[in-house]
Amino acid sequence: MTVDNPAPATVVNGSGNRIIAGPLTSDSSQHSIIPTRAYTGTAEYALEQERVFSSGWVWAGFAHWVDEPGKVHPVSIGGKPLLIVRDEEQRIRVFHNSCRHRGMVMMEEPAKVRRRIQCAYHCWSYKLDGSLNATPYLKRERGREVPQGAEHLGLLGVSSHVWAGMVFVNLGVEFNSTEAAAADFEGMLSPILQRWNHIDFSRLHLAQEREFDIGANWKLIVENFLDFYHLPFIHPQVGPVSASLDVDDVWLADHILGGTYPRGAAGKAAKTDDALPFLGDVPPERTESQDIFCVFPNALLFLEADWFQVIGFDPTAPDRTMEHMAIFVDAEAGGERYSAARKSLTDILFEVNEQDVPILYRMQAGRHSPASNFTNLVTHWDQITAAFQQLVAQRAGY
Ligand code: FES
Ligand SMILES: [Fe+2]
Repeated sequence: MTVDNPAPATVVNGSGNRIIAGPLTSDSSQHSIIPTRAYTGTAEYALEQERVFSSGWVWAGFAHWVDEPGKVHPVSIGGKPLLIVRDEEQRIRVFHNSCRHRGMVMMEEPAKVRRRIQCAYHCWSYKLDGSLNATPYLKRERGREVPQGAEHLGLLGVSSHVWAGMVFVNLGVEFNSTEAAAADFEGMLSPILQRWNHIDFSRLHLAQEREFDIGANWKLIVENFLDFYHLPFIHPQVGPVSASLDVDDVWLADHILGGTYPRGAAGKAAKTDDALPFLGDVPPERTESQDIFCVFPNALLFLEADWFQVIGFDPTAPDRTMEHMAIFVDAEAGGERYSAARKSLTDILFEVNEQDVPILYRMQAGRHSPASNFTNLVTHWDQITAAFQQLVAQRAGY
């Protein structure tokens, strides 16, 4: 679990919004916190896959990918092939996608299996709880039964926890029970669980999801998500400049960084004919706020009173990242009555994300310039980005 530093002090700007006073100071220009090679180099990429994505809690996928027993969904986290599985007791489990005989990856595409995961090479099969089911001709004679002494060759499990429609894994620690994993996960996430205790995440209903294949290093995706400065220029449709300026930096922990637009959703309900029901018992003072947080490293969360957007991603190369974006609404908003309101919501959120795709590509292209080692994070906008970069630098050892 991450050991957090105390919250940094904040200063209030001319329009009354909070800005974190550190880590940037006015003379911090002319150098970048992370070297540019970390955005392009294969050695740095491999290092981050180990030190960032293979230890601690990491977003691995969505629970709805395995929405019924027998659904198996392969993913790659920290460069390691994993299987997200829903077992016959409706429990979501995660295993290494590696046959215990010779290590073949057993599934490459999502599928629904009939109670068994089978390796195609020598046809060993596993039950949905990971235990070894059959090992045909294992002793060079007829027979499928698992012989004595081979029962322990079940799939190797990975610590996992499901929260708010997402599956998280921890490749760095083997917890000895699901309760221990849950307690550790909740400890890691407690600052956000407290902040969002008015939201009933058990009511989430998937409105829509989409994948984005991004031609940029994963860190640029996070930095762009935390960049509130670009909104009026790249996403002018989201509101007037005055609204874009009304944003507070929020540091919840070293590994939970973001911001809030206290009135970002103001007046929105009045604009739509059929406003979506809220995600729980949202108190009046919180109905207009928008919260934007990165749960380090790869869960990018955006919450309003009536919808929840998640971008989870996995890096596939130094200059390429696959984003999985899902938009959730309240269960009550899942019906026909709200289909038009849901569509206009998801259309606009996908459009905003699409607008960032060429920006990210060009940010990546810019990392090949020697000048990009001398960029300038600015104190009034980039404190949260700087805090993110410091965490990466600390974890990766830059
Ligand atoms: S590698 Fe899977 S059964 Fe041999
Ligand atoms: Fe953007």
